[in-house]
Amino acid sequence: MQSLENLFDISGKKVLVTGGASGIGLMMTEALVDAGCTVYIASRKESALKSVADHFNQTGPGTVIPIVADIATKEGTELLAKTLNEKLDHLDVLINNSGRSWGDTLENFPRDAWDKVLTLNVTAMADLTRLLLPLLEKNASHADPARVINVGSVMGTRPKASISAENEEAAGTGAYSYVVSKAAVHHLTRMLSNELAARHITVNAIAPGPFPSRMMRFATDTEEKRKQTGSTVPLGRVGEPEDVACLIRWLLSKGGGYISGAIVPIDGGMSAMG
Ligand SMILES: NC(=O)c1ccc[n+]([C@@H]2O[C@H](COP(=O)([O-])OP(=O)(O)OC[C@H]3O[C@@H](n4cnc5c(N)ncnc54)[C@H](OP(=O)(O)O)[C@@H]3O)[C@@H](O)[C@H]2O)c1
Repeated sequence: MQSLENLFDISGKKVLVTGGASGIGLMMTEALVDAGCTVYIASRKESALKSVADHFNQTGPGTVIPIVADIATKEGTELLAKTLNEKLDHLDVLINNSGRSWGDTLENFPRDAWDKVLTLNVTAMADLTRLLLPLLEKNASHADPARVINVGSVMGTRPKASISAENEEAAGTGAYSYVVSKAAVHHLTRMLSNELAARHITVNAIAPGPFPSRMMRFATDTEEKRKQTGSTVPLGRVGEPEDVACLIRWLLSKGGGYISGAIVPIDGGMSAMG
């Protein structure tokens, strides 16, 4: 058997992380740079992308290449795929992380908030994966498959996984389209896992509980709110960058090469709550 050090070595892998300049995506970018990967980060805000790339390109050992892309549009997704095809001979890993949410009462929930959330969280994920299949297949092998990681949510498996009554109230919300979109992400993950296994591509989802991020600032932007939110999690805290780093390292490594079609919880035990 190879040493564990070898089995978890992911240095040199070429990875695309959508939304890799903030929140959970940034936690992934940091972990991947630390592991010696070449990380392409893609989202809309050029200044955020550039400052993350500048920072990590100074620390290394991996490198970060920013690409401005609005994947909520067909043209933006196609342009991202075209840019990657021009820059790369192959892609080892696609991390579909970009996402958005919307909250309102059921009575006030606008139709538009279904379209916007589902377009980014589901349609863009499926379409980008489709467009990047040729690059993913290039170096994929029986021994070391290419990986697709989709970011779902505990809310996709447990629709009542509200952060807490207080926070839900503070946000004034029901995240109807978001919860549905994340259930769709999990289902899409299993469908694509079946379809792509024979092409040496694994497809898994991670299903986070609460992590501090822009999207979750209503529940995590102060120490007090983080504590309150953490108190609703069985393990008593919100997620931390290290939690994401270790999971990603495992799923991308040879050690994770026999896992496909899984919805991996990273939620402090929330998905097991009644
Ligand atoms: N934080 C949590 O507690 C939690 C829990 C479960 C699941 N998640 C999931 O984790 C993922 C990351 O969210 P987050 O919590 O880290 O929030 P976040 O910091 O707000 O990250 C969302 C990311 O999506 C990108 N994005 C938004 N619209 C985009 C577009 N049209 N095209 C390309 N990129 C776009 C944003 O970058 P730009 O603004 O630069 O475009 C940003 O980097 C999401 O899928 C979310 O549903 C989060």
